[in-house]
Order: sequence, then structure tokens, then C-alpha cells
Amino acid sequence: MTLQFSSLFLPMTLSPLLFPVLFLFAAMASPSEAAGGQWQLLQKSIGIVSMHMQLMQNDRVVIFDRTDFGLSNLTLPNGRCRHNPKEMVVKTDCTAHSVEYDVASNTFRALFVQTNVWCSSGAVFTDGRLIQTGGFNDGDRAVRIFNPCPTCDWTENDSGLADRRWYATNHILPDGRQIIIGGRRAFNYEFYPKNDATAKNTYSLPFLAQTNDRGAENNLYPFVFLNVDGNLFIFANSKSILFDYNNNRVLKTYPEIPGGDPRCYPSTGSAVLLPLNLQAPSIQAEVLVCGGAPRGSYQQTSRRKFLGALNTCGRIKITDPNPQWVMETMPRARVMGDMITLPNGNVLIINGASLGTAGWENGRNPVLNPLIYKANSPGGSRFELQNPSNIPRMYHSTAVLLRDGRVLVGGSNPHIYYNFTNVLFPTELSLEAFSPWYLDAEFASLRPNIIAPASQFKLKYNQKLSVRFQVRGTLAENKVSVTMLAPPFNTHSFSMNQRLLLLATSKLTNLGRSTYEIEVTTPFSAILAPPGYYLLFVVHQEIPSVGIWVQII
Ligand SMILES: *[C@@H]1O[C@H](CO)[C@@H](O)[C@H](O)[C@H]1NC(C)=O
Ligand SMILES: *[C@@H]1O[C@H](CO)[C@@H](O)[C@H](O)[C@H]1NC(C)=O
Ligand SMILES: *[C@@H]1O[C@H](CO)[C@@H](O)[C@H](O)[C@H]1NC(C)=O
Repeated sequence: MTLQFSSLFLPMTLSPLLFPVLFLFAAMASPSEAAGGQWQLLQKSIGIVSMHMQLMQNDRVVIFDRTDFGLSNLTLPNGRCRHNPKEMVVKTDCTAHSVEYDVASNTFRALFVQTNVWCSSGAVFTDGRLIQTGGFNDGDRAVRIFNPCPTCDWTENDSGLADRRWYATNHILPDGRQIIIGGRRAFNYEFYPKNDATAKNTYSLPFLAQTNDRGAENNLYPFVFLNVDGNLFIFANSKSILFDYNNNRVLKTYPEIPGGDPRCYPSTGSAVLLPLNLQAPSIQAEVLVCGGAPRGSYQQTSRRKFLGALNTCGRIKITDPNPQWVMETMPRARVMGDMITLPNGNVLIINGASLGTAGWENGRNPVLNPLIYKANSPGGSRFELQNPSNIPRMYHSTAVLLRDGRVLVGGSNPHIYYNFTNVLFPTELSLEAFSPWYLDAEFASLRPNIIAPASQFKLKYNQKLSVRFQVRGTLAENKVSVTMLAPPFNTHSFSMNQRLLLLATSKLTNLGRSTYEIEVTTPFSAILAPPGYYLLFVVHQEIPSVGIWVQII
């Protein structure tokens, strides 16, 4: 923004009125701000709406929408069709509602999903298979598994869940199971797989009933994070608890977020667990919740009144004995924004609108500029506006981080069908990539390049690991860190299972020829880092390398 503004006006004769404005912008500018990020259109159409996305450890992104939008724009290969008498719109459907996007070749192939995946949830299992649960109608109890191989497809069990799960949230647990929490009219949770066939299949969670607003709900897709003490932090509506899922006990009730406005679907804000610093003598956990819509906003949309979204974020140290929310103000209000943890620990807030709520035809005024939140900057200077896209990403849009540091952005369909004409926000079948400022060419000489270990390296807990990398330019030795990111499942503005670990580093050795070796300690326990695939990055002066895949076993 800054760059565009000044290059546009500087060569001209400056009116005295412009001076203070220019001065203000110049004073705010830092090299990273001036960069502001870049957008790239990757695919004009992948034939379906990217309503749900998951990056797999073969650098392919599994994408799906719902089966009852009508026909999609992508035909299933080999004359395959889905004949489903329970389907609500088209009983014989020869179009795809899921694709696998290959990042390296920028190509995609159709996948065959058999039951309705609409507003479902998921997480990658410890062995790298995507376990995806629930949905609507014939899919509301389904467990679907996608094994990442170039020719693999979905396998489904349409009675794999004990309760219907529509708008539920999944999280990986330290023992490798998934917990599946809530969903519409499901005030309980269950596990997958179920470790004891005789065990009760669902466990009640009254907190979800207590946070259910009449006429709006506002507690769907709850924000769930695994705390460093092994319990779950669960945020729904405007309230949050610390929950012992093993003993079905609420351990702590946190203060309500100031203002009391709802942050969960359909007043959809978003939330992240801020990076866990494993270097600290005692590991603390903080949660950041941003955006949403004021209470009553959803009801107003039925009268075609679109209230302003929330412009506040709340930050809370969930491990604090006396936890309190600290409020911050974003440069712009946002509902349906996605919060994506970047490899350097910054949080990207992207997509969404500044008026209305989630739900059919309920959003107005797309917010086209992403925002970067720097958690470690002093309060009042944490937000940096990024360059805008020109494609509105409203209800049913998604974003996931890729291994190369770009963010894949897709979807947007606020309509019950695929509607490309005569609507405010046409159904969006495109895929874009947003490259944050750190990918700008001017930082190339500072960017680390990992040379060992090789990708797909297997790690154990609490182990020393040497990471060898190159930096062509001058290395600032005290500005090197190593991070590990669990690639999340993204839908409806929430990234389930998103977790960034800042590893403890012990020594940095200069091996000559712009090559260095840094020794790190892998996470101490499965509570800090549940087993499974992670992306490991070397970060130098906030500029991340391309990641490598590692698997904690
Ligand atoms: C999808 O298909 C419809 C109907 O065939 C067509 O009108 C529309 O332009 C297509 N959209 C895209 C983005 O390919
Ligand atoms: C589907 O899941 C249910 C519940 O876990 C199980 O009882 C059943 O055997 C599974 N069906 C198949 C075909 O695997
Ligand atoms: C979308 O298209 C369907 C037909 O395919 C139509 O019935 C519906 O009214 C359209 N929706 C809007 C919001 O225009």
C-alpha cells in the first residue's frame, strides 16, 4: 500500500495538503510493510468451490465442497457417476465435488466423494491419511478417509460416527486419536477411532448447549486448541473453558471475551493458538481470536440489514493462573476471515467481509486486503495491511499455507446453488496464491535453503537434530530460528489443528561456503506436538526457507 501510494504521488507536484499524509505513511513504513505481498491467479477454475482444504505431505491439497449444490463444473473421469437415491438435488450426478490439487505442477484431478460433505470437519491422522468426518443428510455420520497417493480416492463409512456432525470441530490428541466436538444440535463429543468398543460412544458437553444462541447458534465450529497441559481450550460464542476430555470435566471457565459479542459460526470470526515457544523455561500458551459479528447480526440479515463486523481481537494467555483478555483493534472490521499461522510465527488474516455474517447471501463489503499480525511486536503496532486481491472471498472460502510459504486461497459461494450471473458475489471456482512480503525477490539473499535433512525425515521426541542450511547473504546469527507447523484442516474460517512450534536451539555452526548448521531439540512430548506430519522451516530475520516434511513418530 505504502509503496503504491508514494510511487503514484511522488513524481507529481505535491499539494501542501498531501504532505502530512505522505509523511504519515512514510513514518509507518518498514521494509516488510512496503513489500505488502503479492497475489497470483493459479487456476481460473478447478470446477468446484473450495469449501474445505487440507495440505497433505505429498504437497497436494485435498479440496471439497458439498454434493447438493447441483452439478459442478468438473466432470468425473471414465464415465463414472454417483447414483444416490438419498441425494437432495441430483440423484444421478456425473460431476465431481472434490479435487486433489498438485502444488508443484499447478494441476488438479477429480476425486469421487460419495456422501454429502457439506460443512464437515477433519484432520490428518498420524500416518498421513486425511480422516474427515460428518456433513449433512446422508453424510452426517460418515467417516471418509483419503490416503495421499497420486491415484488414491476417498473411501467412506457412512455410519462411522456415533452422532450427526454438521459444523463440528476436530483436533488430534497426543495419543493420535481425533476428538470430534459438537456440531449442530450435538452438544457432545466423540473420538475416532473409538479405542474401546464397549465404551460409551458420545460424551456430553453442556458448554455447547449453554453457548447456543436461540435463532443464531453462534457456537458452531468451536475454536479448539490442545493446551500445553494436555487439556483442551474450547471457545464457543463468546465464552471459553479448559476441558479435560478424558474425565469429561470442565477445569476452568475463562472470562467472557470483552464486549460479549459472538465469534463463532454464523458470527464467524477466527482464532489461532499463537506459536508455542519451546525455548522458554516454562512453556506458555496464548490464543488470539479476531473478528466476528455483533450479537443479533445474523437475525438482522434476514431483514436484509447488514451490520458492521467486529474490528477487535482478543488475546489471552490460557496457561496463566489468572487469565485475562487483552483487546486489540484491527485496521478494519472483518467477519469470515481466516487466520493462518505463517512459518515465521506471524498470523495472516485473510478473506471475508466487513458487513453481515456467514450464511446464504448474508455478507457484504468484501475485505480484499489481508492483514499480518506480529504477535511479538509492541501493542499498537502489530497489524500490517497487505496488498489486496481483486476476488471477493466471502462465505465458503478457504486458505491454507503451502510448503513454499505461499498461501493457497480458494472458494466463495454464498448461494445455495452454483450461480455465476445476476448475483452480487458469483460462485468462485478459482484458486489464487498469496505470497506474503517475505517471498519478495529483494529478500532472496537472506532466505535460508535447507539442505539436510531431506524431506520426509522421521523424528522422535526430545531428540537433538542438526539442520543444515545455506544463506547467500550475510547471516544474522542471532536471528535464526527453526519452526514446525502442523498443517491444518481449513473450513468456515477456522483452521483445525493448526499449531506452530518454535524449537529450542542449542548451537549454530558456520561450515563455510554460506553453509550453516543449527542444532535443535525436537518437541519433548506428544502433548506439545501430537505425532504425525509437520512442516519444518528455518527462519532467518523473519524470512522462512521452503519447508521440509518431517514426521514425528
Ligand atoms: C461453469 O459452468 C456454467 C454452466 O455450464 C458456465 O456458465 C460457467 O461459466 C462455468 N463457470 C466457470 C468458472 O467455469
Ligand atoms: C463403519 O463404522 C462402524 C462404527 O465404527 C463400524 O461398526 C462398521 O463396522 C464400519 N463399517 C465398515 C464397512 O467398516
Ligand atoms: C441460483 O441459481 C438457481 C438455479 O440454478 C436459482 O434457482 C436461484 O434463484 C439462483 N440464486 C440466486 C441467489 O440468484
